[in-house]
Amino acid sequence: MEFLKLVKKRCSVRKFSVQPVSRKEIEACLEAARLAPSACNSQPWHFIVVDEGKLLVEMREAAVGNPVPINVFVRQAPVIIAVVEETAKLAASIGGFIKGHGYKHLDIGMAVENFCLAAAERGIGTCILGWFDEKRAKKILGVPKTKQIPLLIAVGYPIENFQIPEKKRRELSEIVSYNGYSRIEPDAGSNEQTCR
Ligand SMILES: Cc1cc2nc3c(=O)[nH]c(=O)nc-3n(C[C@H](O)[C@H](O)[C@H](O)COP(=O)(O)O)c2cc1C
Repeated sequence: MEFLKLVKKRCSVRKFSVQPVSRKEIEACLEAARLAPSACNSQPWHFIVVDEGKLLVEMREAAVGNPVPINVFVRQAPVIIAVVEETAKLAASIGGFIKGHGYKHLDIGMAVENFCLAAAERGIGTCILGWFDEKRAKKILGVPKTKQIPLLIAVGYPIENFQIPEKKRRELSEIVSYNGYSRIEPDAGSNEQTCR
């Protein structure tokens, strides 16, 4: 698929059909995540695919979010993927510390976006979830207390008549400047503070 078309097709899907997603399809998307770039090629990620039984029911509840249950739609998701943050290479950790940037989160973001784009190309919907009960998710999945799950991904085929929403994004002129910093502040009346 033409790249920009694919980027526009990827959207947060919050209405899933009951159609299951095969592990073959999930693995094709995970392959795209695996190939993502990372600082010092650390690859500080581990993906836990939850796709069956009681575990899935429990993970959906953890994904709904606590204390505010904003993700009730995940109760329909046939697959939930937990992204565990793993130890980075020493050079990446030192570099990140010196520079004051959390490279591991950047790395994970890239891997997750690769996953979501690969899914979109296959007609599979995804929604990245940052608001969920991490403590509960770790307990359900047996993730050591010392590790973090920064994100979950809800995965499933969109409902039959799903319409890709129009992208709400700032204009290029608002987010780009050439040869120096200049930024137009967003309108006070814009939807800057909304989550979606
Ligand atoms: C780090 C991160 C965390 C997010 N957490 C949630 C979430 O908990 N619940 C949700 O419904 N959407 C969540 N989203 C999806 C965003 O709301 C969505 O990407 C954004 O509104 C743009 O819409 P689009 O994905 O349809 O292009 C998250 C996205 C990112 C990148």
